[in-house]
Amino acid sequence: MIQSVLFVCLGNICRSPMAEGVFRALAKREGLDLVIDSAATGDWHTGDAPYPPAIEAAAARGYDISGQRARQVKPADFTRFDLVLAMDGSNLSNLQALRPEGGTEPKLFLDYAPETGRDAVPDPYYTRDFDEALDLVEAGAAGLLKAIRGQAPD
Ligand code: 4NP
Repeated sequence: MIQSVLFVCLGNICRSPMAEGVFRALAKREGLDLVIDSAATGDWHTGDAPYPPAIEAAAARGYDISGQRARQVKPADFTRFDLVLAMDGSNLSNLQALRPEGGTEPKLFLDYAPETGRDAVPDPYYTRDFDEALDLVEAGAAGLLKAIRGQAPD
């Protein structure tokens, strides 16, 4: 059973906070009791709120991510979380290198949204396209929810 999900990107101030906020809202709407969090592979933004343009873009779609604070992935995350989902292939490689033996195998978030034809959420910190990132995050979150809903009970 999937009961906990960790979203991971490079800085934990744009993509993974948006994924956490979108998926948290979706899970709440569907009445699912899941542990949901996000983290960074890097440590540059530890303790920071999400990047203001990410907060604004998410708010425009009804998601409040302003209370989140960035943190770095730690080895215990691979035992605490049933799913560890990377926003792009570089995040995935970094996570694979951090994973302790026997820990949860990280996966690409967009594996849950094959209809997008994309495997990465482009980093809006660099592309400046927060709506593209949110479109992909919403697609991934919807697919993830469907996968969790469809799993057999223990
Ligand atoms: P994110 O974007 O990985 O989507 O949070 C980034 C934000 C900041 C930096 C890198 C990525 N940075 O290097 O400061």
